[in-house]
Amino acid sequence: MADKHIYCPNPYILAEIMPFGNVYPCSCGWIRGYSFGNIFEKSYDEIWNGDRAKEFRQKLYDNDFSLCPGCQNLEILQEINDNEPKLVSAPPERILLGLDEYCDVKCIFCRPENYKVNPNLIPKDKEDKLLEILTPWLKNAKYVKTNAVGEVFASKISRDLIKNIALNFPNIKFEIITNGIQCTKENIEQLNLTNRISMMTVSLHAFKEETYNKIVKGGNYKKVIENLYYLSELKKSGQIERFELHYTVTSINYKEMPLMIKFAREIGANIRFLGLDCSRDLEELYKKINIQDKHHPKYNDLVKVVHSKEFVNAKDIVVQGWEYFTGLKKNSFFTYIKNKF
Ligand SMILES: C[S@@+](CC[C@H](N)C(=O)[O-])C[C@H]1O[C@@H](n2cnc3c(N)ncnc32)[C@H](O)[C@@H]1O
Ligand code: SF4
Ligand code: SF4
Repeated sequence: MADKHIYCPNPYILAEIMPFGNVYPCSCGWIRGYSFGNIFEKSYDEIWNGDRAKEFRQKLYDNDFSLCPGCQNLEILQEINDNEPKLVSAPPERILLGLDEYCDVKCIFCRPENYKVNPNLIPKDKEDKLLEILTPWLKNAKYVKTNAVGEVFASKISRDLIKNIALNFPNIKFEIITNGIQCTKENIEQLNLTNRISMMTVSLHAFKEETYNKIVKGGNYKKVIENLYYLSELKKSGQIERFELHYTVTSINYKEMPLMIKFAREIGANIRFLGLDCSRDLEELYKKINIQDKHHPKYNDLVKVVHSKEFVNAKDIVVQGWEYFTGLKKNSFFTYIKNKF
């Protein structure tokens, strides 16, 4: 009789190619940085079907999630019947590219004033060879998402790379995540992205300009709003498939969440409220603004906001939100494991 296994598709379909060229089969934080290998040191075959990849797939087949301690997907994964572990895989369908962290602004929770962009994420002698190095990774890909660690429209390296991928891989669709400042018609055209965007995500953490300026240092609120109305037209005409706003919730901006829901509806976007990732070394700041923490003096005000009627009536467009901020999802991974095994 066949054994039952929880099946996770990620190590077969997803490659996250991140700073310094490390390849991860899932969100780096969920798997605590378990890398399959480095694209600047090893070939595609050595990484995607090498020992570390096989070990990862074997563990998941054995229902051993010790390499996935931060998983937030486990409760939605399906059980399947399977006799054989599949340790090797066809090339990934989804590539998440986050190789260059250059950005044109400094958001307080991402780039504090003294933050220095690391100039050595891509070895200098490899900069011109990026497309060549990435080609075996891209040959099966349907989607490329970029840039999770910097600003795609502001970085020369990211711009050149996306432009060339779009040119050389006509079947690939793009998922763009941007701060929105340079997300103009001209730039979309210059990067060969016209009619190639399956998902457009714009991070906008405030409804009011004065609040935006407290969070995004060196930003341009008016430009972002102008560009969002342009993207809204693209969405309406079907030139972008999905359109989403990202809003990282802090004590500075939580009161404007309902207003942002209204605005998202107006421009035809969904909205995702993100909790603050406090894993970086910004302790004092995080303590001050991390309203998601139950001990934060404003926590109960946040709970009121996420239970307000604007929120409750917006389940059609809020893709992620209240479950995290109200604690409903806390420890879901561990609860699941405890109940399951
Ligand atoms: C690092 S940015 C890169 C893409 C692009 N520059 C942007 O801002 O959308 C990706 C997302 O991470 C979020 N982010 C950055 N630092 C964060 C933190 N400490 N906690 C939660 N979200 C954060 C940003 O708000 C943004 O939505
Ligand atoms: S962390 Fe969860 S979603 Fe990611 S590979 Fe592991 S089981 Fe799959
Ligand atoms: S725009 Fe994106 S990459 Fe730039 S500082 Fe803000 S969150 Fe970070």
